[in-house]
Amino acid sequence: TTVLVANGPNLGRLGSREPEKYGTTTFDEIAALCMQWGSEHGLEAVVRQTDDEAELVHWMHRAVDDGWHVVLNPAAFTHYEYALRDACALVTGAGLTLMEIHLTNPHAREEFRHTSVISGVATGVIAGLGVDSYRLALDAIGSRA
Ligand code: DQA
Repeated sequence: TTVLVANGPNLGRLGSREPEKYGTTTFDEIAALCMQWGSEHGLEAVVRQTDDEAELVHWMHRAVDDGWHVVLNPAAFTHYEYALRDACALVTGAGLTLMEIHLTNPHAREEFRHTSVISGVATGVIAGLGVDSYRLALDAIGSRA
């Protein structure tokens, strides 16, 4: 079973990006951890990051075609990107698990972060636990797959 761990804009800067909010673990370190955590459940984690809306939408289409479950940190796209929402609806509509995750708890931050256009079509949401949000999402997929 393969899981796409897809990351949206600015997450490639993790490690140096606002470390007081997002921690000091780098994106490459998160990628390595996800591969390790996935393998503990017999999952192959494919970890990617893009700043491009179209690329994320395309990855959701490919996940449907290839039967991959998805862990998605949509980053700022969470709050307004309807095309990504519609693409995520295709993933869960196909019977695949899609876990929306966030390092921080968006509800404890600025007002504009309180809305997620993704949550309504996600299987589940994990937020506020730092890098552990990724681990728990992989645990969830491992126990469902
Ligand atoms: C985030 C929260 C978003 O509001 C923000 O735009 C991000 C990261 C998180 O992981 O906490 O880029 O998705």
